[in-house]
Amino acid sequence: MKGIILAGGKGSRLYPMTMAVSKPLIPIYDKPMVYYPLSVLLRAGIREIMLITAPADVESYRRVLGDGSRYGLSITYGVQYVARGIADAFLIAEDFIAGERCCLILGDNLFHGAQLKSLLAAACERQAGATVFGYPVKDPRAYGVVEFDDSGKVLSIEEKPKEPKSRYAVPGLYFYDGDAVELAKTLTPSARGELEITSLNEEYLKRGKLHVELMERGMAWLDTGTPEGILNAAQFVEAVQTRQGLYIACPEEIAWQQGFIDDAHLAKIGNELKMTEYGQYLLSLLEK
Ligand code: G1P
Repeated sequence: MKGIILAGGKGSRLYPMTMAVSKPLIPIYDKPMVYYPLSVLLRAGIREIMLITAPADVESYRRVLGDGSRYGLSITYGVQYVARGIADAFLIAEDFIAGERCCLILGDNLFHGAQLKSLLAAACERQAGATVFGYPVKDPRAYGVVEFDDSGKVLSIEEKPKEPKSRYAVPGLYFYDGDAVELAKTLTPSARGELEITSLNEEYLKRGKLHVELMERGMAWLDTGTPEGILNAAQFVEAVQTRQGLYIACPEEIAWQQGFIDDAHLAKIGNELKMTEYGQYLLSLLEK
């Protein structure tokens, strides 16, 4: 399965912060924003990743993540010249996806919780169709909204509805079978001029191939695309990490747990950083 992180042209809600710092490098508490979606792909066991971003941000990403070998991954870079919407990722990444199944995550979405592992496993196991997630929120009007029946069958999916048919927002984490690129090519821009990911999901729904997995109340899904979102996420990460002494979204730790890097590789990175708390944390993992 291939993985895509889309950190496209949605910097506007963070202006003027984005004058000074590329969006992916804006810190969420103690690490760059991009660590959070990267950690989800690692947790899903995905090792071939394409990062898609605006031309001005490619070098920043490359500086932070390189070719991915630090995490036992292959990371390549795709450029989105015009912010044409989320589904545009499939047109940019057509050659990279090469007809395989694919997971797409938005560069500013943060997920944390015990249920994440089993949700990712369920989505990864599904060979045909698409999987989206449903997350209960107080006001879903700013999101894609999914409606489903008691058996979990999806009835509708709508982008930013004025009158939502459910309280389940669709987070920026999607799994598709090998048809996604061809279906994305048939989409036309919405009223806001974007190739909507919700339109792609509707195509799967029309074919009876859209599945939804529910994120339970203990799961955290935070969107860091606004200044308030960044503050909320930072406070959440700080509170949980400080209390437990365990990092949220430490890519080296997850890569090591997944067996993508071995003890010696983790020790090398830890030793290079041993004057930092982060490096000491990596070294402490090897002592347990
Ligand atoms: C996008 C999607 C929306 C989804 C949201 C999740 O919204 O269009 O369906 O619920 O991401 O973060 P946007 O960020 O484009 O407003």
